[in-house]
Amino acid sequence: MQSITEIPILNGRRVILGVTGSIAAYKAVDLASKLSQSGAEVDVILTAAARQFVTPITFKSVTGRNVYTEADLWGPEAHVLHVGLAEDADAFVIAPATAHTIAKLASGEADTLLTLAALASRAPLLIAPAMDVGMYENAATQANIETLRSRGATIAGPAEGRMASGLVGLGRMVEPAELIGHLRVLLGKSGSLAGRRIVVTAGGTQEPLDPVRVIANRSSGKQGFALAQAAIDRGASVVIITAPSHESAPVGVRRIDVETAAQMKEATVGAVTDADVLLMAAAVADFRPVDAPKQKIKRGEGIPEVRLEPTDDILASVSAQRRETRLPRVIVGFAAESQSLIENAEKKLRDKGIDLIVANDISADDAGFSVDTNRVTVIDAGGAAEEYPLMPKSEVAERILDRVAKLLEA
Ligand code: CTP
Repeated sequence: MQSITEIPILNGRRVILGVTGSIAAYKAVDLASKLSQSGAEVDVILTAAARQFVTPITFKSVTGRNVYTEADLWGPEAHVLHVGLAEDADAFVIAPATAHTIAKLASGEADTLLTLAALASRAPLLIAPAMDVGMYENAATQANIETLRSRGATIAGPAEGRMASGLVGLGRMVEPAELIGHLRVLLGKSGSLAGRRIVVTAGGTQEPLDPVRVIANRSSGKQGFALAQAAIDRGASVVIITAPSHESAPVGVRRIDVETAAQMKEATVGAVTDADVLLMAAAVADFRPVDAPKQKIKRGEGIPEVRLEPTDDILASVSAQRRETRLPRVIVGFAAESQSLIENAEKKLRDKGIDLIVANDISADDAGFSVDTNRVTVIDAGGAAEEYPLMPKSEVAERILDRVAKLLEA
């Protein structure tokens, strides 16, 4: 059975996870577990110091695979182990990475199984420093980190917060979810959308009624953020223009926050001038109050009369601009419908002059706004409709990007 947490870009990929001696080693257990659940094959290497904090069996329990320690360096297969481990790895992660291990990596030392394997490896290297703030800020550590970065390593963090010493400052290992985000960027680099620039819009715009109240809609932004992540997984450079949403931007995505339809239009029209693709997943208000009062509307003043005026159609503006600039090459719209799904969606596709429309029936409980699943039909400019079953929004995003990649190739 496919697990719900499986992540295509990580599925079947070989990840070496080096764990060094820091209290943050307990978070590495969670990282190993999440990576394994995502479908990755995780080979853990523990340094001697790491074993003071966590045990091999802890990691073996979550990865279901062998865990390597210093003892293996001197075992019967020692002569091939470090090279074998490193050889076909897709990514090499060191989390947490102590100041000591970082120093050894920077100077190319190879005195432990972990540093030997790291030196032998050609896989992209992701390092999550964890140490006391003084150690982190020390010029020696900073220089070592800079050396590793200049050689192509990705340094994630450290984050700010309370450390084991009781001090507050920079030095905490970043959370496993963020490290997985960095891994997705690294593994996605050679994907089918490498070098493509993609703009995604997400969330429901909010139109002020007064300084306190807004006219909003039920869009959560989930489908837009899932599209942004899927585009990162394929190597694209991604900008997300989002109305207020509780979703957090995937690692690697540039986020632009907006509130109103007018702000979203300005940001989107600007962003697409050098973009290959626009994925217009936002639920944009069609009407906004005329002249929202500057002061709060008071209950005692009686029932207010609110006059509305139309907002601009962002998709129509982008597609008009494209007639001059020829960019973005692919424009995808979304159609939230409560009736005559295909008919209404086709009409929007034609009227807005776009290439694909993703239609969904918002009257279903398990699809559309706020939930994690969606059931969509994708219609192209030729009128061909492809209907997909109910699936996670992350998978809907994959299907949409498959179609986008094909259009870009054409
Ligand atoms: N859209 C837009 N600008 C607007 C309104 C909508 O760019 N002012 C985009 C949406 O982001 C979506 C598509 O147009 O990609 C269709 O949005 P939808 O709300 O379904 O359709 P509308 O054009 O607003 O038509 P209606 O509300 O009458 O269904």
